[in-house]
Amino acid sequence: MAPPPRSVLITGASSGLGAALARACAGAGTTLHLSGRDPARLEATALSCRQAGARVLPQVIDVRDAAAMAAWVMDAGRLDLLIANAGIGTGTGEGQEGAAAARDVFETNVTGVLNTVLPALGMMAAQAPGPDGWRGHVAVVASIAAFVAAPSAPAYNASKAAVQRWTEARAPSEAKRGIALHSVCPGFIRTPMTDANAFPMPWLMTPEAAARRTLEGIAAGRLRIAYPRRLYALARVVGALPPGWRNALLGLAPPKR
Ligand SMILES: NC(=O)c1ccc[n+]([C@@H]2O[C@H](COP(=O)([O-])OP(=O)(O)OC[C@H]3O[C@@H](n4cnc5c(N)ncnc54)[C@H](OP(=O)(O)O)[C@@H]3O)[C@@H](O)[C@H]2O)c1
Repeated sequence: MAPPPRSVLITGASSGLGAALARACAGAGTTLHLSGRDPARLEATALSCRQAGARVLPQVIDVRDAAAMAAWVMDAGRLDLLIANAGIGTGTGEGQEGAAAARDVFETNVTGVLNTVLPALGMMAAQAPGPDGWRGHVAVVASIAAFVAAPSAPAYNASKAAVQRWTEARAPSEAKRGIALHSVCPGFIRTPMTDANAFPMPWLMTPEAAARRTLEGIAAGRLRIAYPRRLYALARVVGALPPGWRNALLGLAPPKR
């Protein structure tokens, strides 16, 4: 994607990686459709993007609300890039993962992604191709956690595996109608989501570094954008172990809250 995208929609822009992605996309001539649930934090992101010269249209909206999401996405008009970034984490703590927490993770991280992406795909298929030849780009923020069934966060890791696989499996058929899909698989990023982690997080990145690597991967047309490479390689090795060995190894890690 040679020229920067001019019309971008990002969910979860009120915090962490989504806010950094919004700021990285902001510039003169760019329109940003940004969403989150917290109006004050969303407005703070919008303000910094406006100061960088972007036109910003913030929307307080819950990604679990399918009808509201479809209306918002369809109202946006032409989109060069959509980033389904909103997500939540949970863990087992010292015991079991709670039933409500597990459901909430799937409703936000999986159904919320479908609520964001599906309305956009139909709309993008009807758009004229942009300067890079694609009608539009759709990036789904999964995680390196997609590659490891960690006992400390069953719902989170499974939800990220679901959206990573869905995105990559859907990519060839969407490419035929001119839409580029990208599954984004970051390692640890310093955000409010990871602030609760009491365990060491190897190769922890700033949100700005993660946003830059995400946008570089999209611009390069990569289907899977996984970084940092060392953590990704480690996750692939651990993920390939027999399940009993993997659970025994990962069981040594401190609990995730
Ligand atoms: N941090 C990491 O190490 C890491 C690593 C790999 C992948 N990721 C993924 O990166 C994405 C962003 O995470 P983050 O670390 O930036 O976390 P964060 O700082 O907690 O931000 C999460 C964002 O998602 C939004 N969100 C959550 N539930 C929502 C809902 N039901 N409806 C609408 N918006 C909702 C939040 O909005 P409000 O705050 O306004 O509610 C917030 O803007 C997530 O998908 C996460 O799984 C994070």
